[in-house]
Amino acid sequence: MNIVQALNDPKVFARFFKAESWNAWRVFLAALFGLPLTYDQLQLYKQCTGRNTAPTQPLNEAWLVVGRRGGKSFVLATIATFLACFRDWRPYLAPGEVGTIMIIAQDRAQARSIKRYVSGMLREVPMFAPLIEDETAIAIRLRNRVVIEIHTASFRSTRGYTIVAVLADEVAYWESDETSAEPDVEIINAIKPGMATIPGAVLLCASSPHARRGALWDAYRKHFGKDDDPVLVWQAATRTMNPAVPQSYIDAHMAEDPARARAEYFAQFRTDVETFISREVVDAAVVPDRHELPRIGGVRYTAFVDPSGGSSDSMTLAIAHVEDDAAGSKRAVVDLIREVKPPFSPDAVVREFASLLKAYAIFAVRGDRYGGTWPRERFCVHGIDYQPAGKTTSDIYLELLPVLNSNRAELLDHARLIMQLCQLERHAAGSGKDSVRHPPGGHDDVVNAVAGAIVTALNAASQDVVSVAMPVVAGTLRSVPGGSSLGHADAVVAPTPAALRPPIDELRPASPDAQREARRQAINNDRTAYTQQGLRPAGGEPWRGHAGGVDESFFWGGSTGKRAW
Ligand SMILES: Nc1ncnc2c1ncn2[C@@H]1O[C@H](COP(=O)(O)OP(=O)(O)OP(=O)(O)O)[C@@H](O)[C@H]1O
Ligand SMILES: [Mg+2]
Repeated sequence: MNIVQALNDPKVFARFFKAESWNAWRVFLAALFGLPLTYDQLQLYKQCTGRNTAPTQPLNEAWLVVGRRGGKSFVLATIATFLACFRDWRPYLAPGEVGTIMIIAQDRAQARSIKRYVSGMLREVPMFAPLIEDETAIAIRLRNRVVIEIHTASFRSTRGYTIVAVLADEVAYWESDETSAEPDVEIINAIKPGMATIPGAVLLCASSPHARRGALWDAYRKHFGKDDDPVLVWQAATRTMNPAVPQSYIDAHMAEDPARARAEYFAQFRTDVETFISREVVDAAVVPDRHELPRIGGVRYTAFVDPSGGSSDSMTLAIAHVEDDAAGSKRAVVDLIREVKPPFSPDAVVREFASLLKAYAIFAVRGDRYGGTWPRERFCVHGIDYQPAGKTTSDIYLELLPVLNSNRAELLDHARLIMQLCQLERHAAGSGKDSVRHPPGGHDDVVNAVAGAIVTALNAASQDVVSVAMPVVAGTLRSVPGGSSLGHADAVVAPTPAALRPPIDELRPASPDAQREARRQAINNDRTAYTQQGLRPAGGEPWRGHAGGVDESFFWGGSTGKRAW
């Protein structure tokens, strides 16, 4: 039985494909399996492939560039079920070996949804049900030595299998937890050897398109519209493949964001989205094998934090400093990167970051401005003044670009940083400024902190130069690394001209108010802890008499709080 017969057979898939709205998928499936097309079907085939002649043999590789809700996942599941139940792969398997039909999706939820389609079909079709030997959350093992297994897009987990089919869903949106900037290309290259020993093994990749890069774009560029090419590329809008999606739904998306809707529902690669920084520029900035730099006394460090509540995104910290190079221009040097992945307790991470900051004699930190007010409060408890950045993340990236292009930054050899930098996208604005952000489904926590630290450090250093030219500052010793008593560095040295400057936000130790607030909160925390345990601290209660004659309620309720003791 071929796949078209199976789709039409009431004992097989007909119950799922009764509606006429599935007709376009019948054409794709017929083409993929080298089955004859009617005249009308050939017209649709031409429209979706840019080719004039249809294949007469089954194909081993096809790419579906199809709009959202077009039916990609369901059809992949149907093909998986067909290949598992109607093909005998045993002649190609060594004793004890199983043939794997691998379904790869961008994340676990997506992968599970395809597996549910497969599982539903196997169980609802009486002819298939007895084939099921065993089913777990990630695999369905059949009695004919075929295993249908779901995977997330991971370079490591997809190696080492004997593969009879790979069905890759939403390839344009894969972001692996590994360190690759191109997980789609690498994963697909890695699984191809696993298919080499199996005649008739099939690679099928489906996705709505995104930017003009990655495996989907490569396949489209190389194979779309080429008659007799063994790799088929099928490009179709959502409603071409699934007319059941109402036009009004598409219209609403077009009205909201036309550039995005053209990609998502009309299957057009985006022309307004480009790679922001080239791999070569990033590689040139990375100092190989430099993973972290220790603090050097007398050097002034700058830090940037990308906060997170601990449930979905990482929380990150980067520390950088500025050096003068031989030509007299300023270079930012990244010293340290920390990323804590969720889940985590924000309090514990703030504590860890605060102690790192203090180890580099940093008492004021800049942070992502969308972090809300909690980071300021939590850092304050540890004596660190957290200030939201004055710029958007996108503006920080736009400032970072000329710095990297002109080789004015040294980056650590940090795989996630490199990956996230390479994945940043520039979205062209019709008018006004372009915006830079991570790809859909991607992350930028690490690069956000690093870019923030570099840009803040360079801006602060350039303000230094201006202030030196101002005689009025002479003799005003403020926050001088190595030259003041404000505790910025451990060695006391004579101030340099650059150190004789007005205070700069980024570098100032916590303001007296912030320090007072930090002390007050630390003492209140102690008090709460002791009170809860019914204990009294040895050496007296720090919250009593700490105010030095000032109303002690300050230490409990703060300027706005109520005295609760
Ligand atoms: N041609 C069609 N006719 C009728 N129903 C369809 C058709 N295509 C898809 N559907 C239904 O639409 C829903 C979405 O299908 P599916 O998940 O396969 O789409 P998708 O292209 O993978 O969507 P997404 O882009 O959101 O991942 C399913 O309930 C499916 O049965
Ligand atoms: Mg889908």
